[in-house]
Amino acid sequence: MKRLVIVSNRVPVPKEGLRPGGLAVVLKDLLARKGGMWFGWNGTCHPDAAHLPPEIQQAEGVEYATIGLTPAEHRNYYTGFSNSTLWPLMHSLPEHIHFERRELATYWSVNERFCENLLPLLRAEDVIWIHDYHLLPLPALLRRHGVRQPIGFFLHTPFPAPDMLATAPDGGTFLRDLMKADLLGFQTADDTANFIFAATRKAGAIAEDDSTLTFEGRRVHVGTFPVEIDPQTFAQTAVTAAGSADLRRLSGSLAGRKLIFGVDRMDPTKGLDHRLAGYERLLETYPRRERQVTFLQIAAESRTDVPSYQVLRNKLEHQIGKLNAHKGQADWTPLRFLTRGSPRPTVAGYMRLADIGYITPLRDGMNLVAKEFIAAQDPENPGVLILSRLAGAAKQLEAALLVNPLDHDGMADALERALAMSPEERRERWQACWNSIANRTALGWGLSFLNILENAKRR
Ligand code: G6P
Repeated sequence: MKRLVIVSNRVPVPKEGLRPGGLAVVLKDLLARKGGMWFGWNGTCHPDAAHLPPEIQQAEGVEYATIGLTPAEHRNYYTGFSNSTLWPLMHSLPEHIHFERRELATYWSVNERFCENLLPLLRAEDVIWIHDYHLLPLPALLRRHGVRQPIGFFLHTPFPAPDMLATAPDGGTFLRDLMKADLLGFQTADDTANFIFAATRKAGAIAEDDSTLTFEGRRVHVGTFPVEIDPQTFAQTAVTAAGSADLRRLSGSLAGRKLIFGVDRMDPTKGLDHRLAGYERLLETYPRRERQVTFLQIAAESRTDVPSYQVLRNKLEHQIGKLNAHKGQADWTPLRFLTRGSPRPTVAGYMRLADIGYITPLRDGMNLVAKEFIAAQDPENPGVLILSRLAGAAKQLEAALLVNPLDHDGMADALERALAMSPEERRERWQACWNSIANRTALGWGLSFLNILENAKRR
């Protein structure tokens, strides 16, 4: 039987307590069901890391093979080129892009180290599935070392328009390296179209149809595979968590006020500063909402060495203080802002308790939180989802209140509309959103990609 080998930068090694980011959530759900090996970075940083072999551990039917990074690799590959250059570039936020050539050099060398450490662990019958922007050169490196197994690549972020890609140093090389895979997957049809456009215009690929390219005499398949969650499992988690002591405490502290809820990593792509401004605008435009609402935002600290994240943190701290000082009252704090991550079940419980899910990224590959919010609701009395139209999830969750994440008045109006919405309209909108995710799973998402990958290779 074929073994699935997943390769990603971040591997949530077993027993990691806090809620991981989107990629880790979905791959964990997938591997828990399908089994296989997960190769990547264990999240540690050590001066000798480059000389140590991968650490192997087994948990719940999954083999984890992980390596550490040296401090210089962490600085230049992870904090540097991956998250200061590629991440904002992929999200089309040029004002956040910072580029240093030495960081690019380390990005290549860490990809080579991933390749060297992975090669001895591979078996002839493996199917290799590489994930995300940290590992763009890896398909080509593996092929250069003679790997003949099927290779798939999935990008969890958006794929930018070709003009944006022109700001990437070596953009053409990345396109050519990716096309050494057999199947390339993207979150939305727009991302796939952007890739095909870039590959044909900038890297010499020929498009045979809208899912097949020819490049250097080989066929490369391209497709759209929106990432899914396990909605039934998440719903159950939310129901269970809603009865916990944590949730009873939160509920008691609200004293009957409506709860607006958001949860993200603290990341410039998440639009948190604009989101707070939209909430502040609600309180200014609809002052009767004062004391009727509480906004709980979890913004788990993330990538704290990246300068633009530090700037964001300072900006938010100022904004939060100002909002609570100007709008708060002796017995009412309008905004509760937490930078510590929370366990996934607790978050599921918060979502179930919330009257409004307020999720407004400037741009997002998918945004699984939006799907989780829908799954967590009580069908009889569901909350309302306010979602950025620039999140990949908005393509599926069309019945949410879709907003422009830069339009503070628009977000204030959407909050007001959600607060005033009739139970019938809430149920109708929720049902339409639920129908679009209910029959899908992380496993189904993974299998649909892997089926096409295996067929692509055979052809
Ligand atoms: C996003 C990226 C993932 C990443 C996650 C958490 O979901 O697409 O590749 O793992 O954020 O970020 P971190 O830098 O902590 O791994």
